[in-house]
Amino acid sequence: MLGTFSPDSFGGMTDTVDAQASLEAVLKDEILRMYQEVADNPDGEFHFYHGREGAERFGYASEWLDRAPPGAVDSFAGVGNPHERADMRPGETVLDLGSGAGLDSIIASWAVGSTGKVIGVDLNPSMCLKAQAHAAATGTTMECHEGRMEEIPLPDASVDVVISNGVINLSFQKRRAVEEMYRVVKPGGRISITDIVSAKQLSQSIVNDPKLWAS
Ligand SMILES: C[S@@+](CC[C@H](N)C(=O)[O-])C[C@H]1O[C@@H](n2cnc3c(N)ncnc32)[C@H](O)[C@@H]1O
Repeated sequence: MLGTFSPDSFGGMTDTVDAQASLEAVLKDEILRMYQEVADNPDGEFHFYHGREGAERFGYASEWLDRAPPGAVDSFAGVGNPHERADMRPGETVLDLGSGAGLDSIIASWAVGSTGKVIGVDLNPSMCLKAQAHAAATGTTMECHEGRMEEIPLPDASVDVVISNGVINLSFQKRRAVEEMYRVVKPGGRISITDIVSAKQLSQSIVNDPKLWAS
């Protein structure tokens, strides 16, 4: 049966769209604040693993953590180890989506070497500056673009490998983010992401809480 729309139902739809847009805006602010805080004050209290302890828990090699600049290690806020299966090779181009303070990009830059390239993308331009400074401190380079994973600022089929660590769960448009990864990866390339999934439907009170969503 075809439904009919009354002025009220249009009003309801508008309310829903407005509510989603405002929740999305609040969430974006909270994400910017939360990860900036991890980068600026890594010794603070966070209810997720971070820093060296988190990275060791996820199997990051001690040599990586000893070699990377302390600022990148202390501000690490990933949820797993995307390097394990990424199989990055010298000369390849790697995209690190949601590159944060740069630890994953720096590890990728060692894997692809001076003939390869690492491109970070992050919502927060000051995280991009931090990541680039951390990379420079180790004598390596990465370029970082301010941008959204839902609209990756790169051409089609332009990278060999996409890595991402703890970022997709932050998106309001997860399908779109995944479509974007497939758009930018070259045919035969690899996508290696570590993220959080829930086997249970989360309650609305959790879904609508920007602090819980952002972490
Ligand atoms: C969980 S941390 C990523 C950790 C990082 N890979 C590391 O090695 O520490 C989340 C990062 O993703 C960025 N981010 C969140 N939402 C984003 C989006 N929609 N597009 C791009 N980056 C985003 C945040 O600004 C933050 O720097």
